[in-house]
Amino acid sequence: ISLLPYNTLGLNQSCTELLTITSEAELKKQLTKLSTKPSPWFVLGGGSNLVLCEDFNGVVLKMELKGIVHTEDDRFHYLSIAAGEDWHQLVEYCLEHEIDGLENLALIPGTVGAAPIQNIGAYGVEFCELCDWVEFMDATTQLVTRLTAEECQFGYRDSIFKQELKGKVVITQVGFKLSKNWQPVLNYGPLQQLEHNTVTSRDIFDLVCQVRQQKLPDPKMLGNVGSFFKNPIVSVERFQSLHASFPDIAAYPHNDDMKLAAGWLIDKAGLKGYQLGQAAVHNNQALVLVNYGQAKGEDIITLARYIIEQIKQIFGVELEPEPRLIGQHGEITING
Ligand code: EPU
Repeated sequence: ISLLPYNTLGLNQSCTELLTITSEAELKKQLTKLSTKPSPWFVLGGGSNLVLCEDFNGVVLKMELKGIVHTEDDRFHYLSIAAGEDWHQLVEYCLEHEIDGLENLALIPGTVGAAPIQNIGAYGVEFCELCDWVEFMDATTQLVTRLTAEECQFGYRDSIFKQELKGKVVITQVGFKLSKNWQPVLNYGPLQQLEHNTVTSRDIFDLVCQVRQQKLPDPKMLGNVGSFFKNPIVSVERFQSLHASFPDIAAYPHNDDMKLAAGWLIDKAGLKGYQLGQAAVHNNQALVLVNYGQAKGEDIITLARYIIEQIKQIFGVELEPEPRLIGQHGEITING
């Protein structure tokens, strides 16, 4: 079965079986089957953070659980959202219902259930700041567990779901807790031009949409998975020595370290627009790899490896892919 319609990079790789999950009962049934008759499997949401490096010899569970529940008290809005809901539609739902807090995360492709896995973030806000809890089904026991946001061990593009729970659970519901005492977050680049005292969440939403549309290619027009690499985190000393050689290097403080803009590194290395067959570095945002139409998973990976090598040679920094890489038998890594 071809997964071409289900991944935004537009890779024509296949899987053995594709199952659509529309209820928790169905999920339980399929996971029970998989634990008695083992086969590789993975969960597919919007397919917007996924690189199908090869044909996958296993079962794909396409997550389509739906449902939005909204409650509130004096101080907070509480949302309970099924994993298969579309992220951007949720952001719009919140705007329409005057629930503020998600506006900086407008236009991020993918599903709500995928958001906690890599702790999606953009324009100064990360998912973990809005998250109350995450509920998942254990693949082996089919028991449903709820973790508090703290228990999810969120970090920059990281969580327990990429670490000890990787490949072991399926996220089913996500809980949000959003303060009614809303404060706009305007510290990131282009948002700084907005006026703190009068700005509305709608203004932020509109500007974020506009900036994203300018910089990031629309996957419907040009296959991509957003940022292809994580912004590498280095020590302050390391940053200072890089800064001495490259005074215009783009970086931001990150806890006690510095986060380098991987897009800047790739751009500076002269790789913006670099093309290898049908795979290429995007012309407007060097952190985005694109598929000109006929690229195979292998072509994207060859290009990614070349970029990792070049950046290592020039800056001594190792880039790591940000999306999930799926090989023949499951998730793979291309570093080291
Ligand atoms: N830059 C360049 N050349 C480029 C691209 C970027 O010099 O080709 C420089 C920019 O001038 C800027 C800096 O790099 O100074 C950062 O660029 P940008 O604001 O576009 O953000 P980013 O660090 O490349 C991150 C996230 C994005 C998120 C934006 C906005 C990661 C891996 N990426 O990108 O998230 O939308 O910030 O907050 O953290 C994603 O994860 O898929 C994603 C798109």
